[in-house]
Amino acid sequence: MAKYIINGGSALNGKVFLQGAKNAVLPLFAAALLTEEEVVLHNCPDLLDVDNMARILQSIGADVERHGETIKIRGNLNSYEIPYGLAKELRSSIFLLGSVLARRKKAKVAYPGGCDIGLRPINIHLDAFRELGVKIEEKYGYIYCDASNMQGSHINFDYPSVGATENVMLLAATAKGITTISNAAREPEIEGLQDFLNLMGAKVSGAGTPFITIEGVESLKGTEYTTIPDRIVAGTYLMACAICGGEVELIGARPAHLHALLSKLSKSGCKIKVNNDKIYIKADRRLLPFERVETQPYPGFPTDLQAPLCALASVACGNTVVIENIFETRFKHVPELIKMGARIIVSGSVASIRGVERLRGAEVTAMDLRGGAALVLAGLNAKGTTIINEVHHIERGYENFDAILSSLGADIVKV
Ligand code: EPZ
Repeated sequence: MAKYIINGGSALNGKVFLQGAKNAVLPLFAAALLTEEEVVLHNCPDLLDVDNMARILQSIGADVERHGETIKIRGNLNSYEIPYGLAKELRSSIFLLGSVLARRKKAKVAYPGGCDIGLRPINIHLDAFRELGVKIEEKYGYIYCDASNMQGSHINFDYPSVGATENVMLLAATAKGITTISNAAREPEIEGLQDFLNLMGAKVSGAGTPFITIEGVESLKGTEYTTIPDRIVAGTYLMACAICGGEVELIGARPAHLHALLSKLSKSGCKIKVNNDKIYIKADRRLLPFERVETQPYPGFPTDLQAPLCALASVACGNTVVIENIFETRFKHVPELIKMGARIIVSGSVASIRGVERLRGAEVTAMDLRGGAALVLAGLNAKGTTIINEVHHIERGYENFDAILSSLGADIVKV
């Protein structure tokens, strides 16, 4: 298993050209199956999760070809069954339920996988599908669906689930009648999916607000689309600069997607400047404490940046309370940060962090994608050498992470 070896203490200086958003491109792969015509997706990051999603599409008959950052998909489906082995690799396999059902009116999907950060049930997805007239049977770890009598309907979400919002948009785009979702998730990736579906000829409106309307159309056509930039990767690089000191400019960013983080970084003493597709950060002093950070659905502070923020708060000059409201067990990075000298106490969904001057190098293990990224940030700050095991978790979401950090001046190698 690959590891990172980091000698901490170098400031970061330079530019980062942002990758396309993992959590935006994965639902687009599913949407591409809604037509037999060719779909061309640009700005697709080179990540294990994207490769796994491509493998799932190919396993049910689709043609998927990568040409650098461009991926061409032709959704000729010859099966409606998503195999267990691939489905368990990533959460996004559940999106295929919506698009395979829409095309084949039948689907058999294993329960999805993904980061081990909580129970991650799919009840909101399945309840919504039942509201749309889909017959669902769950047995032997598979979900069997029959959408032959599907009809648009009004759906209210108890919780603004990102995946369930995307799944209903995928299923309802070509369903008979009108479907509305209230209490929909408002993440930018959902607006991206709406833009893409509408380029295919769908009639979706309201993405980015709690109310989404989908007017079913007969069929969808092929199109070309550029994936939005990855706001979580952007936030991670900004926090990497904040924890080490230096000056970094992100290019190809969407500042509007990061207001919650930018506000926290400014208040902690970082200098932030933004213009239409760039974010500039300068960190030249020890960070002030963040006091209280609560993860919320977008546009609140993103749960995917909670772990990197814990690393940052570990070296601020004061106390920070971090409350994780979205996932039940998303503090697996804390014991690893404590090995590096962080002073954190976790009680339920609350992490109380007392900042120390500087962390110290140690051997640690990445337990999930964003927790692993937090350990990299901690290693960049720490005195001495940090070894991070199981970096495959990190590389599911960060393209060329070690190479980019090294280009900014970090002393990091992958072995
Ligand atoms: C998406 O996951 C992202 N993944 C996650 O990013 C992100 O953390 C999450 O949204 C929240 O922003 C992708 O887009 C591939 P949810 P998703 O449905 O769709 C509960 C990363 O690091 N819930 O909004 O799974 C669920 O258990 C990953 O890139 C139900 O109870 O998120 C969780 O507690 C991690 N029943 C909460 O809602 C359901 O049917 C949020 O889940 C669905 C969800």
